[in-house]
Order: sequence, then C-alpha cells, then structure tokens
Amino acid sequence: MSKNILVPWNMPEIGREILRKSKAKVTYLHGPKGEIPSLQELTEAVRHANVLIPRGTQPVTRKVMMANPNLRGIANYGVGYDNIEVASATELGIPVTNTPGVLTETTADLAWTLLMATARLIPQAHNYTLSGEWKAVGGRTFMGLDIGPGGSNRPKILGIIGFGRIGQAVARRSRGFKMKVIAYDPPLRGIIEKTKGVTYRELRDLLKESDFVSIHCPLTRETHHLIGEREFKLMKPTAILINSARGPIVDEKALLAALKQKKIAAAGLDVFEREPKLTPGLTKLENAVLLPHIGSATNDTRGQMAVVAAQNALAMLQGRRPKNVVNPQVLNSSGYLRRIGK
Ligand code: 8YV
Repeated sequence: MSKNILVPWNMPEIGREILRKSKAKVTYLHGPKGEIPSLQELTEAVRHANVLIPRGTQPVTRKVMMANPNLRGIANYGVGYDNIEVASATELGIPVTNTPGVLTETTADLAWTLLMATARLIPQAHNYTLSGEWKAVGGRTFMGLDIGPGGSNRPKILGIIGFGRIGQAVARRSRGFKMKVIAYDPPLRGIIEKTKGVTYRELRDLLKESDFVSIHCPLTRETHHLIGEREFKLMKPTAILINSARGPIVDEKALLAALKQKKIAAAGLDVFEREPKLTPGLTKLENAVLLPHIGSATNDTRGQMAVVAAQNALAMLQGRRPKNVVNPQVLNSSGYLRRIGK
C-alpha cells in the first residue's frame, strides 16, 4: 500500500527530519510565506494522502475527509482540535491525534505574561515611551491593577475556567503572587478539589468573585459563547479577562460592549472568534491587549509539537496505535480496519 503524508503548511525542520527518515513520501503544500492552501486545494491534495498533518488552526471538514477512502489518520499540530470535524472523522473510521503536554508550560507562560501585561498596561506604556510624549510632570501615569497583594495587602482572586494541563500550570504560576485560586471545570471537579490551594466554584460564583478570569477550556458545543453579556454583568468592574484558549468561547461583540462600557476593566486576548479577523472596534480600545495567537510560539515548543505530530502521523501510517488519539473508539471500528486493510 502507498505511504503518502500530506503536510499543508510550513512544518518546522525537526518534524520534517523525522518524516524524512521514514520511508514515507511527504508532500508539503504551502505558499512561499507559509500561506496555507484553500479548503478546495486541501480537498484536492488529500486524495493522494494516507495521513494528513494539518496546522492546529487549519479547518479539516467532512468533505476533506470524504475525498479519500484511503486516509488512515489525521495528526493535528496543536493540542486543540476544534479545527477538525472529529465526529465525522469518527463516523468515517479516521483516528485524529493532537499534541498535548509539550506546549503546556509555554502556553501557561503566555497566559501569565498577557495577564501581567494587561493589568500593568505594558503595551500602552511601551507605546507611550516610544512616542516621545513622555513628560516628567503632567504626562500619562499608567495606573495599573495589582496582581500581587499590593500596598493594601489584599490577595487577589484568580478564577480559572478549564482546569486541564494548561489551567493547572497557570494556577502554579499564581503561587508566587500570593493569589487565591478558584476554578470551574465540571468534568475535572475531582482534580480541582484535590489540588492544594485551589477551590471549586460554579461559573456564576467564579465570575462574581474573581479579580482575574483566565480561560483554559477547549472549544466545544458546551463552551461556545460560555462568556457573554450575562456573564460580563456578573463580573467586577475592576476584573480582567484573559483568553488564550479559543476565541469563540467568548462572545466577542458582548466583550467589546463590556470593555467600552467598563463593565469589566480590561481584557488580554491571544485568540479571537474569527481569526485573523477582529470584531470592528476591538483595536480602538485602550483597555484591551491583543496578540496574534502566539500561545505555543517558541522555537523549542513548536519544534516539539512538530515532533509529536510527525510521530503520531508515522504510527497511523504504519497501522500502529498512535499516542494521542482523541477519538480512540475509532480504532476498533470496521471503517478504520477497512482503511488500514484489515
Ligand atoms: C496552535 C494552539 O495550534 O495547540 C493549540 O491548540 O492553539 C496552537 O498551538 C498553533 O498555532 C499551531 O497551529
């Protein structure tokens, strides 16, 4: 049987090397600046592939999967896999893998950096310094919000929504700031209750109590627009929202209104509802810090994500069980067995 892998984006060299050493024929499909192919180009190219390695933000639809009855796996480059229609993959007998673990600390670092930068107005102050407008007297003062207990010695409350690996890593970072940590994640309630220094809260209570709310849950049907107009009303006017998980978890229009009307103090966002498009008005706000989805973006971590994706791809190509299957039930299905020729 043929052994073709399709990589429709500019994969880091360390991942390419692993693929090169295998006997597989690897096709890279992207523009000179790493531009990813259109859905139609992807659907066309996938006809010749046995395993697909999509970039974490690249949509893989049912139509793409249907284009090839010999597709035996999709190895996503990313821990989140909401870009892939997993229910269709399962139905069609196609295993889907992701890259958990290797990006946990890097993504938690970014969430924490964003929290601090938003609270202390770092990008705004940086731009001011560069602008030449800095005056010793009478200039802007950049009064931020405390992350630690501050002069009045009041520990701040960090509310974490989603207590998987990344949420837990963010909780660890808060210890040095003497914060009180509360968390919401119904399926992982047991883990929250077992974690020292972290207390479970229902979402309403978490939103009411928190000085900082940081989102770390996956995007699912249940978490789509988990935070909207009603939720912003519950939050403190001094609260800061951080989202480095997935944009559609927050209703971006409602967020824009909440920031304009100062229902909350500020937001730090690494993800957006319709990336790379932003809701008009968002870039005009003084109380929002906006980043272009760089949570896992360090050479080391992106390289290790490529290694995991490549290893998963080769396992699926060779009919072995890959490490990180998100739909393991598929491995016993007749559809999958047909695909691998058993
Ligand atoms: C992106 C991410 O996937 O892993 C995730 O879930 O959001 C990121 O690491 C990254 O941009 C790769 O496409």
